[in-house]
Amino acid sequence: MAQSFDSQEIVMIIFFLALPLLFIIFKKSLIKHQSDDPPLPPGPKSWPILSTINHLLHPKTDHISLSHLSQTYGPLMHINLGSQHLIVASSPAAALEVLKANDRVLSGRYAPASLPKTPAQTDTLSFWADSTSAHWKNLRTVCRAELFTGKALERSARVRAEKAAEMVAEVMVKSKEGGGVAVDVEKMVFETVVNMSSNAYFSKDVDVAQFAEMLRGIGEIFTAINLSDLYPFLGVLDLQGLRRKYMGISMKMWELWKPILEERRERMDLRHNDFLDTLIARGFGDEQINHLLEDLFTGGIHTTTAVIKKTMIELLTTPTAMAKLKEELSAAAIFDGQDSIPDLEKLPYLSACIKETLRLHPPAPLMLGHRAYAACRVMNHTVPKNAQVLVNVWAIGRDPAVWEAPLEYRPERFVSGGADFKGNDFELLAFGAGRRICPGMSAAVKMVDVVVASLLSFFDWSAPHHLHLHQLWNRETSQFNAPLLLIPTPTK
Ligand code: HEM
Repeated sequence: MAQSFDSQEIVMIIFFLALPLLFIIFKKSLIKHQSDDPPLPPGPKSWPILSTINHLLHPKTDHISLSHLSQTYGPLMHINLGSQHLIVASSPAAALEVLKANDRVLSGRYAPASLPKTPAQTDTLSFWADSTSAHWKNLRTVCRAELFTGKALERSARVRAEKAAEMVAEVMVKSKEGGGVAVDVEKMVFETVVNMSSNAYFSKDVDVAQFAEMLRGIGEIFTAINLSDLYPFLGVLDLQGLRRKYMGISMKMWELWKPILEERRERMDLRHNDFLDTLIARGFGDEQINHLLEDLFTGGIHTTTAVIKKTMIELLTTPTAMAKLKEELSAAAIFDGQDSIPDLEKLPYLSACIKETLRLHPPAPLMLGHRAYAACRVMNHTVPKNAQVLVNVWAIGRDPAVWEAPLEYRPERFVSGGADFKGNDFELLAFGAGRRICPGMSAAVKMVDVVVASLLSFFDWSAPHHLHLHQLWNRETSQFNAPLLLIPTPTK
């Protein structure tokens, strides 16, 4: 009878078949480091093969484990991941050396093996491209000069205001049903952020349930342990089928805007004042548009939703901060004007709350992996060519050497100045810094501001009796392990 293996078994079988090759790689890497270069950064001593087995059984490269390890090994660490070098920076000084002093040489992108593109496609089609490629430079220019300029963001302000107003109307209906009906705040915010984005990109709502399913699929692929990331020579085999799965999801996602794209090309009707018009007018091909929109959606939705959700949880569990923000919102009366676009510039305490959430709960806690184009020196250690380089933004945001009472939610620390997240202050790096800094930063902050301001201007929120926010919320790990169900009551 034919025997079938589960994916873990397949991984282990391939792994043991590959042992002789791994041994040669290990020997080669030992020889390489007996040179005059400064040593690799300190880190846990491990034999690459054992480290791989350990990693497969206990995936320990999340931001929390890395933060603990850095307390033993210091602000710049080296870890063997299979045949790959991983470098982790965990202090503002180390981050500055990675993202500023060595910005050029360390601004390659570490592209996971599950990406459904050949290296040539990556370099000509997507944001995962190396920062030396003409395509990536062009994308950044288009983002900077057209898609996310102050003017473009002003244009999309109306869309954000409309979608926020739809969300408020939906909650208002629920709040009047009586009996304290709870709203799934995360689900509702996700829907709002998706449609704020889709309308800025191509002026249409999308099927949010279908979209959520796609993003969930992509999230699972990225968090799966992929043997091909540990041993890139296995990449072509796609043993776990992750690349195939990702390709399937990508193609489904492109179908969402295909009819819109076709119609605009057919009629050459470019009067919508949105991203798609701009991209068509600049001569982008269909494939480039598909990849760019996919990258903007996958980069922007969960991150923005998470910041809104965690700001709400922090405010609900920190009543003094909630009271101050409510006071600011009611004094500014931002939703009372003639124009339907609220003026969010008048809200310094809101802005301080968002910064405080980004400090404690950055949604990309290790940023995205960078890659060393060439070997270089960081803090008197060698970063080998092709090493993956991570910055532990999460650990930096709670470093007691940098922040007073780091585990307290205290927006006041940002009220009269303090650090900003725009890439110049290396203690607050939620959006990264240097040439790879998040291109969607301003759009993200505008979405967060208007959603939080709307939720708190129109409603008071409380948790249902059975839901004990303080018990469910773990600020130390940034985890909230339940749907965020809250009861809205219209403010007087
Ligand atoms: C609060 C929300 C967000 C946070 C915290 C965030 C954070 C980040 C971080 C840390 C990076 C990696 C920086 C690096 O590697 O040095 C990044 C990259 C990126 N983000 Fe965001 N992001 C957010 C929202 C958005 C939005 C709304 C968009 C799109 C509209 C977006 C699009 C991208 C893209 C395309 C990249 C890749 C840039 C490149 O490789 O050149 N992000 N983001």
